[in-house]
Amino acid sequence: MEFVKKDILDMESLSVEEIQAILDTAETLKEISTRSIKKVPTLRGKSIVHFFYEASTRTKTSFEIAAKRLSADTVSISASTSSIVKGETLADTAKNLEAMNPDVIVIRHHAAGAPHMLARLVKASVINAGDGMHAHPTQALLDMMTVREKRGRLEGLRVAIIGDIAHSRVARSNIVGFIKMGAKVVLAGPPTMIPMGIEALGAHVRHHIQEAIHDADVIMVLRIQKERQQAFVFPSEREYAQCYGLTVERLAEAKEDVLIMHPGPINRGVEIASEVADGPCSVILEQVANGVAIRMALFYLLLGGRR
Ligand code: CP
Repeated sequence: MEFVKKDILDMESLSVEEIQAILDTAETLKEISTRSIKKVPTLRGKSIVHFFYEASTRTKTSFEIAAKRLSADTVSISASTSSIVKGETLADTAKNLEAMNPDVIVIRHHAAGAPHMLARLVKASVINAGDGMHAHPTQALLDMMTVREKRGRLEGLRVAIIGDIAHSRVARSNIVGFIKMGAKVVLAGPPTMIPMGIEALGAHVRHHIQEAIHDADVIMVLRIQKERQQAFVFPSEREYAQCYGLTVERLAEAKEDVLIMHPGPINRGVEIASEVADGPCSVILEQVANGVAIRMALFYLLLGGRR
């Protein structure tokens, strides 16, 4: 199929065919990262701006590595070193970036909807690298790639997402993405961390972790997003770990070959025990590796497929 999208903003606006095309392309491009010379000339002469208003280790680094492996020229801007600190608005920043004629702008922003606004203002393709509590589509795509690689399919699988669903853009994008691809999604966490009406997306809610994990093919564990909470919505981290932390004992109640995922960063001993995060079922670092492949695929499809 011809990939004709201008922007990658959320999972809602990607069709099943487009998601399949992204996953297939990423699977093919992943091989480049295993070569001794990890570079192809595909995007030579293209310019990519990485604009991160929020902290990031995995997403920012993998976008940059992905662009470089395809030979694109890259520029990175952070909020603290840009003219945002002098009061420049996102709209003015967008117009000034546009004047320099980049091909893609990758943006992470604390405000939900900021990438959508940017996409309306610029001719360049815009990729959402995480906007507030709204969406993190490239994380959902790399998560789906990891599961498909391990299980050969997404359809019919049971995916349990555990923890702070309410404040998680990763959860929202994964719920929409996995359900769209035919998986069943079950959510579990403290009632204060499960948003009202989340079932409208097609997910099922359980308040006890055991109910969610006992027949799951995939368990995705989320960090408590303290930076997005008005007040801590659980008495203490110790109690959270006791009630909802994924420990070796709890994992014993799950399927033997269950996949353990976490988008990172991990708070060891809170939402997940170290023995589980580093254990034989964990695919957490494979998620990170696939992040490079997914972002290479998106650059390739947006810049090559659109030509
Ligand atoms: N998964 C993820 O978005 O991690 P970073 O915040 O480190 O980019």
